[in-house]
Amino acid sequence: MQSIEKVKDIRPSFIGRDFLTLADFTEEEIGYLIDEAISLKHKQKQGIEHKFLKGKTLGMIFEKSSTRTRLSFEIGMKQLGGDAIFLSSRDIQLGRGESIADTAKVLSRYVDGIMIRTFAHEKVEELAQHATVPIINGLTDDHHPAQVLADLMTIVENKGKLKGLKLCFVGDGNNNMTHSLIEGAALTGMNISVASPSGYQPKSTIVSNAKRIAVKTGSTIEVTEDPVTAIEGADVVVTDVWASMGDEGQMEERCTVFSPYQVNDELCKHANKNFIFLHCLPAHRGEEVDTTVIDGVHSVVFDEAENRLHAQKALLWLTMSN
Ligand code: CP
Ligand code: NVA
Repeated sequence: MQSIEKVKDIRPSFIGRDFLTLADFTEEEIGYLIDEAISLKHKQKQGIEHKFLKGKTLGMIFEKSSTRTRLSFEIGMKQLGGDAIFLSSRDIQLGRGESIADTAKVLSRYVDGIMIRTFAHEKVEELAQHATVPIINGLTDDHHPAQVLADLMTIVENKGKLKGLKLCFVGDGNNNMTHSLIEGAALTGMNISVASPSGYQPKSTIVSNAKRIAVKTGSTIEVTEDPVTAIEGADVVVTDVWASMGDEGQMEERCTVFSPYQVNDELCKHANKNFIFLHCLPAHRGEEVDTTVIDGVHSVVFDEAENRLHAQKALLWLTMSN
């Protein structure tokens, strides 16, 4: 009964909507997306099919490499009865200088939604400004909201809630994962503590906006240089690569700066004894995380990877159906 009411009240707010950052959504909407993702996962496990997107096509523009994002959106569309087309920027005219505005207008005449993975976040915003179909952010330099949706779902599956938990992120604070985790935590009432070296801390605009959201949800947001402070009592421990796509040229210098920020057994002694470990993958074992942690009993990274599929299906059907 309760979920029927929820469908009536909230579902229309998603239709035709872009998904560029988590902060564009409300606490209630993020909760709804997570519930839908969990429900779609259960249905899939029971063999119940939902062809919500029959006849619809998703265009997927990739300007960076991907395994999980491509697979989850492409398979997700197929499982929902639709289709997906992979558009590498190496092959389409966007890669030869055709404008984003023209690309947005042309694609809008062919497809029912566009997923894009690119560099500058402004490119996704420009695409959204000119497209007449929903735009989904599949990762930019500043945000990775589709991944964090799957992360929030994974935390709910393991901990039964989000509000009041402590999540800590140790590593590169000025990257897409950290920014989306900060927004996700602020929106859902989780407390987040980020430990990053000076010069690699989260963007202040993202932190201050998240703090404004956090006033309503009761979340606390802390940024520190000390990994032990950040991980103290954490229920969820997260890290990510020290050099994101596009930063590979700085790998040597980053390995030096980040070496005190490795998530290993010694550091994890300070976490809650039932903590779970998340990593969006791909991981560099022996750099940002020790194999004893990522391949250990606290790690749920492969459930997290699977949950990309279910979370992306929830996102696709809510934004692209009519
Ligand atoms: N986590 C994630 O986005 O993985 P891919 O880069 O493989 O898509
Ligand atoms: N921060 C990483 C995430 C990869 C999914 C990157 O941007 O390369």
